[in-house]
Amino acid sequence: MAEPGTPPVDLAAVAWPRPTERLLLRRVTPADAEAVWELRHHPSSHEWLTSGPPDRATYVAEFDRPERLDHLLVVERDGVLVADLMLRITDAWAQAEVAERGLAVQAELGWVVHPEHTGRGYATEAAAEMLRICFEDLGLRRVTAACFAENTASWRIMERLGMRRETHAVADALHRSGRWLDSYADAILAEEWRAARG
Ligand SMILES: CC(C)(COP(=O)(O)OP(=O)(O)OC[C@H]1O[C@@H](n2cnc3c(N)ncnc32)[C@H](O)[C@@H]1OP(=O)(O)O)[C@@H](O)C(=O)NCCC(=O)NCCS
Repeated sequence: MAEPGTPPVDLAAVAWPRPTERLLLRRVTPADAEAVWELRHHPSSHEWLTSGPPDRATYVAEFDRPERLDHLLVVERDGVLVADLMLRITDAWAQAEVAERGLAVQAELGWVVHPEHTGRGYATEAAAEMLRICFEDLGLRRVTAACFAENTASWRIMERLGMRRETHAVADALHRSGRWLDSYADAILAEEWRAARG
């Protein structure tokens, strides 16, 4: 296991692909562009996401930029791409004198499941594996996730993962409908994750 903050903390350091009971997690490749578009272009998929996908051609073209794919994973069930995930390694807020120790010590997670494959526990199973990757493989010290408070399916995943609610911000987030909505931010520390696993 890596020591927290020991550079380079990078998804390339993880052994891929990563099997779970039913799923296979792997890094996204340019060849996945069409399949990721297929799961993301549904209105129910991007209702709560920061950006809706542009048209198919623009979206697929973005996959030619390696930096666009840095923090993206995809999830297969029996060879079918059923979800995509975000695992973005981030720096902690730190004072200047110790800033270097705060580099790449935490991660932010995200999830999108194809609407035809929701309700089967795939997001929870895949996200649980991301936590294992963060804490066991990458040696990170903290993992976060955030969502609109109205995105019940998303915050229930955070709860099932054992994450703690750290923020309930009131009317801080602007939905594309024009409504200012509440948002939640949850987190879990490595020691909390280990304690929960006994
Ligand atoms: C949020 C989202 C990722 C959830 O995906 P999902 O795969 O349906 O999530 P899960 O299946 O793990 O959990 C959903 C429900 O299925 C249930 N479930 C869990 N395991 C199950 C199983 N083996 N069989 C059937 N149902 C199961 C869960 O209990 C859960 O129900 P509950 O929330 O009422 O308790 C999906 O709805 C989505 O892609 N939404 C749009 C994108 C989005 O909002 N992303 C998050 C932005 S912050």
